[in-house]
Amino acid sequence: MKKIAIITGIVTVGMLLSSCRDKGSTGHAYMPDMVYSRAYETYAALDSSKFTGDTLERGEKIFYDRMPVTGTVAREDMPAFPITIDKLGDTANYVAAKNVPNPLPALSAVDYLEATRLYLVNCGICHGEKLDGNGPLFNGGNGPYSAAPKNLIADPIVSKMPDGQMFYVVTYGKNAMGSYASQLSTKQRWMVIHYVKDKQALANSKPAAADSSANAKK
Ligand code: HEC
Repeated sequence: MKKIAIITGIVTVGMLLSSCRDKGSTGHAYMPDMVYSRAYETYAALDSSKFTGDTLERGEKIFYDRMPVTGTVAREDMPAFPITIDKLGDTANYVAAKNVPNPLPALSAVDYLEATRLYLVNCGICHGEKLDGNGPLFNGGNGPYSAAPKNLIADPIVSKMPDGQMFYVVTYGKNAMGSYASQLSTKQRWMVIHYVKDKQALANSKPAAADSSANAKK
């Protein structure tokens, strides 16, 4: 009886010790065929470059997380922005983006409503419903987001920022502001910019009435 207890004890301690390993490790695969899919899945690590033609990188495996070919346009979206992101510390492309005009014609009443919605959801949380740089996420410095968003109406540079440069900012991000390219399609970004430029023009034409009355437009 004692022997059984001792053997059980040794086996238990052995199992406990052998299960102590690096937290990130999934341990031994008992049946690898069932653990790893044999199909080529989009983001799975591949064992060879047979189908991808890619060279080995990141050690032994190839990760198929490639970007689409340059110039790829999503279905029903507009042609891609011709300006690429600046190299770190450079601003040449940010400056050159000033010359890219907004390819969308002025918004119809329906599109304007949609642009307003897109602005409120994606930008208004930081830049404010009134574009004054004081959305609920910032809230005068008391919100969860500590970096002050630019006042899109009163900031002397941003209020005159050309459409193309604003598109650059929304697409690639600027300093504390991130990119919105994955949340908004190319067309949606140009629509939001139409909306911002419209509000800026309205505020500049009658500076005293830049508050709630501006919402009544269109
Ligand atoms: C999470 C908060 C946040 C959101 C959301 C956000 N921004 Fe910003 N934005 C900022 C901050 C912070 C800055 C100031 C960046 C800096 O220069 O440090 C900024 C700066 C800008 C600028 C000026 C850039 C420059 O070159 O000086 C523009 C234009 C702008 N935002 C437009 C937008 C638009 C349009 C959207 C919606 C698609 C948006 N932002 C969404 C935080 C935000």
